[in-house]
Amino acid sequence: MLSYVLHEIGGQILPEQREIPQVSQDGALVKVAYAALNHRDCWIQKGQYAGLKFPIVLGSDLSGWLGDEEVLVNPGYYWGTDETVQSSQFQILGLPQDGALSEYVVVPKSQVHTLPSHLSLQQAAALPLAGLTAYRALVQRGGTRSGEKVLITGIGGGVALFAFQFALALGCQVVVSSSSQEKRQKALDMGASYAYDYTNDQWTKELMKDLGGVDVIIDGAGGESFSQLIKIAKPAGRIVIYGGTQGEIQKMSPQQIFWKQLSVLGSTMGSEQDFEQMLAFVEKHKIVPVIDSVYPISEVNTAMDRMRESKQFGKLILRIEQ
Ligand SMILES: NC(=O)c1ccc[n+]([C@@H]2O[C@H](COP(=O)([O-])OP(=O)(O)OC[C@H]3O[C@@H](n4cnc5c(N)ncnc54)[C@H](OP(=O)(O)O)[C@@H]3O)[C@@H](O)[C@H]2O)c1
Repeated sequence: MLSYVLHEIGGQILPEQREIPQVSQDGALVKVAYAALNHRDCWIQKGQYAGLKFPIVLGSDLSGWLGDEEVLVNPGYYWGTDETVQSSQFQILGLPQDGALSEYVVVPKSQVHTLPSHLSLQQAAALPLAGLTAYRALVQRGGTRSGEKVLITGIGGGVALFAFQFALALGCQVVVSSSSQEKRQKALDMGASYAYDYTNDQWTKELMKDLGGVDVIIDGAGGESFSQLIKIAKPAGRIVIYGGTQGEIQKMSPQQIFWKQLSVLGSTMGSEQDFEQMLAFVEKHKIVPVIDSVYPISEVNTAMDRMRESKQFGKLILRIEQ
């Protein structure tokens, strides 16, 4: 079978012929139709991810066939029995185990799910990691309810877009931020009430004028600008952090956090139960993932460049099927 392999930090992802993997008793051999990229793949390529090992087949998201059945795979393995936090065995497909950029992948049988009925294989490949992360952050951790005001930061991101679609489906008033005018316009066209440019240092003032603050913030950036989020959270607001694209959080005011009774919550992917609930939510609301572009797997390095440069609006999909 053909696999696309990363051999070293900073290297290109290169094609390689490999044996089709052996299937253990609890395993399932999935023929991959489509894979999708996540920022995780960029962090691994840059060498900025825990537990690096090479060579590695990247890719946490896939759709394909188990026998004749169309399936997708929950990429979060071994969550464990505690719904509140993952076990120390928790793993993500695509490191340490070889991932989706391959003609065949062996995954635990328990991770295999039927596609939501309204999605094609191509659309379904966009869903697993980012959809799961967004669902847990917004619903389980954020406790977001219909009618609340929700801010999703960095709307170009894969997780951010799902959080945006899910919040709209919940009946929230949703606002977004983005560095790109084009992405802000796309979000407004999809139903955002307002879209702010987070590179303009007046943006939080504009938001306060428009809305008087927000109840829930879903953030994957962290970094210097995180302290602004504390200011625009309403009293009893919840700020859910699922990523740290901009690095260390600085200059946070304890006074603003305690006086406003804010909750600052961490969230990572999700449990098997979260994944099933996310699929049911997507099915119920007929949510269709936003796809930025579809590349043949031979152009995976071009797709990785697009993600690294944050040019995408929605998921980057790779067509694996030969
Ligand atoms: N904890 C978990 O389980 C988990 C799961 C998935 C992802 N993550 C992490 O979450 C982050 C996003 O992942 P992804 O796959 O969705 O990434 P992605 O698709 O590559 O999105 C990255 C986006 O971050 C936005 N951004 C950059 N600087 C920002 C800032 N200062 N303020 C607000 N937004 C900013 C940009 O949005 P604009 O282009 O709109 O400006 C960019 O498009 C990554 O760090 C990833 O590792 C964590």
